[in-house]
Amino acid sequence: MKNVGILSVGHYLPSRKLTNLDLEKMVETSDEWIVTRTGIKERRIASQDELTSDMASGAAREALKNAEMDGEEIELIIIATTSPDSNFPSVACKVQKAINAKNAAAFDVSAACSGYLYAMTTAKQYILSGMFKNALVVAADKFSNLLDWNDRGTCVLFGDGAGACVLGWVRGNHGILSDHIHAQGKHDEMMYVDHEEPVPLDQTHQKMRKPHIIMHGQELFKEAVTSMAEGAGIVAKKAGVKLEDVKCVVPHQANDRIISAVAKKAGIPKEKFFINIHKYGNTSAAAVAIALYEAVQEGRIKKNDNVILVTFGAGLVSAANLVRW
Ligand code: UT7
Repeated sequence: MKNVGILSVGHYLPSRKLTNLDLEKMVETSDEWIVTRTGIKERRIASQDELTSDMASGAAREALKNAEMDGEEIELIIIATTSPDSNFPSVACKVQKAINAKNAAAFDVSAACSGYLYAMTTAKQYILSGMFKNALVVAADKFSNLLDWNDRGTCVLFGDGAGACVLGWVRGNHGILSDHIHAQGKHDEMMYVDHEEPVPLDQTHQKMRKPHIIMHGQELFKEAVTSMAEGAGIVAKKAGVKLEDVKCVVPHQANDRIISAVAKKAGIPKEKFFINIHKYGNTSAAAVAIALYEAVQEGRIKKNDNVILVTFGAGLVSAANLVRW
C-alpha cells in the first residue's frame, strides 16, 4: 500500500524580532493587551531586502536537505503566498532558480492563511494522478509590507516567515489520509487588502495614513472557530480516525483564544494543539507550516501519530488534512 505523504519539513524566520514592548513605542497599545487578547509576545520582521522569495527559498533549502534531495530531483514547486515579491514572475519561479530545480513546473497559489494546505492538497492530486513523482510545497508571507503601521488593530498581529515540505510517495498506512478545502467568498469583505502600496515598518511615524490590511476581527474570530472545528471533524471522519486517536493538532496561529475555542468546539483537549503564536504572531500562510516544522523538531509528532493540520483565512478560505506520520 502506498500513499502521498510528507517526506520532510523546513522553515525560515527573519532574524529581526519586534516585541510587544517595541510596539508600545509605536502605537497606543500594551504588552498586556496583546498577550491577553492574542497570546502574541513577539514576531519576526523581514528586512527591506529580504523578500518573500528569499524566505521561501530558505525554507525550501532546509526541506530539501532534510529529504536528502537535490533541487534537480523536484518535479513540481507550489508556493502559497498572498504577499509575493511582485505580480510576476511567481515566487515559485524565483525559488526554482534559487534551488536549481531546473526540471520542475512551478506556480503560486493564493489562499491567504489557508494557502499551505490548499497548496499541499493541490500537490497531492498531481502526485496521485501520476503527473509528477514529488512536489516541494512552500508557504511564505511578508505581511510587514502590507500593514498600516499606524493601525494598532492589525499591526500587532502579524509577522513574517516561511515553512516548507517535500511531498512524495510513502509506504504503508501513512501519509495524507484525508483532506478538505473550502471557501466562502460571500464573506470577502471581512479581511482584504485595500490597496497595494507598501508602507515599510521604518516609516511608522509618517503623517500619511495608508490603509492596507483591513480586518473585521470579531466576525472573523467566529468564522475561524466554526470552520476550523468543522474542518478537524471532517478530515478525521474522512480518514476513519477517532478524534481521541489524534495525537497532535497543528492549527493556524491567528489568536490563542481562537485555538482555545476551536479545541472546545471540536472536543479535542487544548494540550494536543501545537502553539507557537507567542514567538511569531500570525505569519499567514506560513503559520501552520512553521508550527508543523517546530512540532516535529520538538518531538510533539512521532512516527505513526495521527496529526490534524487545520487553517482559516481571508477569502474566507478554510482547509484541513489528517496526516499519519
Ligand atoms: O489569520 C487571518 C484570520 N484572522 C483572524 O482570524 C483574526 C480574528 N480576530 C481576532 O483575533 C480578534 O478579533 C482581534 C485580536 C483582532 C481583536 O481582539 P478583540 O478581543 O476582538 O478586540 P476588539 O477588536 O473587540 O477590540 C477591543 C478593544 C477596542 O477598544 P474599545 O472600542 O473597546 O474601546 C479596540 O479599539 O481593544 C481596542 N484595541 C486595542 N487596544 C490596545 C484594538 N487593538 C488594540 C491594541 N492595543 N493593539
